[in-house]
Amino acid sequence: MRKIVGGNWKMNGTPRGTEAFMAAMGTAGPAGLRADVVVFPPFTLIPMASLKAPAGVEIGGQDLFWEPKGAFTGEISAAMLLDAGATWFLAGHSERRHVLGETDAVVRRKLDAGLAAGLKGIFCVGELLGEREAGRTEEVVRGQIEGGLSGLGASPRDLVIAYEPVWAIGTGMTATPAEAGRMHTLIRGWVEGIAGGAFASSLRIQYGGSVSPSNAGELMSMPSVDGALVGGASLEPGSFMAIVGSAG
Ligand code: PGA
Repeated sequence: MRKIVGGNWKMNGTPRGTEAFMAAMGTAGPAGLRADVVVFPPFTLIPMASLKAPAGVEIGGQDLFWEPKGAFTGEISAAMLLDAGATWFLAGHSERRHVLGETDAVVRRKLDAGLAAGLKGIFCVGELLGEREAGRTEEVVRGQIEGGLSGLGASPRDLVIAYEPVWAIGTGMTATPAEAGRMHTLIRGWVEGIAGGAFASSLRIQYGGSVSPSNAGELMSMPSVDGALVGGASLEPGSFMAIVGSAG
């Protein structure tokens, strides 16, 4: 399976920086990109990012709201993301779940709305440190997967799961390749139970959480790890391109 690497800029970025980032990505040439690449800038930079993105680099929104339009101050619809040039969206990122209070039900509404509008989605799951320490990792992640996927009716081409243990995000603490590989295999099994074997075997499952140029190759060499969702190390084109380069 071709791997997929996402760069989640979170609340970072400027117009000038976006232009420079995309120009640097373009120097690799389409053949130099050893994976599918999606960059998630903040909403305000999506039009510029999609205008400047070189071939092989797609753009996504970090979030969306499920209603198509109306009196929802501050929100952005799936159609607006498409209009701005995005082809992907993130749903269920741990910062949305744990800083902004999104529940599994909210995440599911976003998944439904984004996929129905024709966007491709990265659905993020992962356990908190306290849940890990209490031995609840599998129960928590399984619950998130069931909430997101039961009856979803998506094509595996349009969906990616990102397993991002919350304790590893932005902390410099990464799951070991063996830990990530084990969780990915479990996740694929749960997906199979929900959506069937054909769906599960063609679904890509990324790892996220302090992925860097120094650990990306080892993590993505695990057969069950189909790519990476990168936060901090995606802000600078050199480190992001090094991670993309280690996917092939
Ligand atoms: P990080 O973020 O790479 O900075 O840990 C990952 C993410 O939040 O997707």
